[in-house]
Amino acid sequence: MSVGVAELDQQHQQLLSIINDLIDHQHETIYSETVSSCFGKLVAYTRRHFALEEDMMRAYGFPGLDAHKAQHVQFIENLVDMMLELDHVSMHDLLAFLTAWFDQHICHDDQHYAAYFARSGGN
Ligand SMILES: [Fe+2]
Ligand SMILES: [Fe+2]
Repeated sequence: MSVGVAELDQQHQQLLSIINDLIDHQHETIYSETVSSCFGKLVAYTRRHFALEEDMMRAYGFPGLDAHKAQHVQFIENLVDMMLELDHVSMHDLLAFLTAWFDQHICHDDQHYAAYFARSGGN
């Protein structure tokens, strides 16, 4: 699902690949080294991705920036909460949360700025 900006598309692919890594390790305990390394990568990579996306939305004057940014903040908060509450989170919960977020945010919500960029003459 392209947003029409090569670097953002690559970052979405990278995020998907981290989620797929977690899916490949779904039978491991949530405390495993692999899972915690994926968690770390996901938080770091997502922050970087959100920063670039928000910079671009600002540069294009996208009117939905504040609402979109609030969704980013909420996602990071939810992810960090999960990391801090691992005793109450199963791998199933984590993967359900991440795949739902990918479907909703990247495949749907990010398309709003993509359409706006395209109308504004973006690449
Ligand atoms: Fe995105
Ligand atoms: Fe986004």
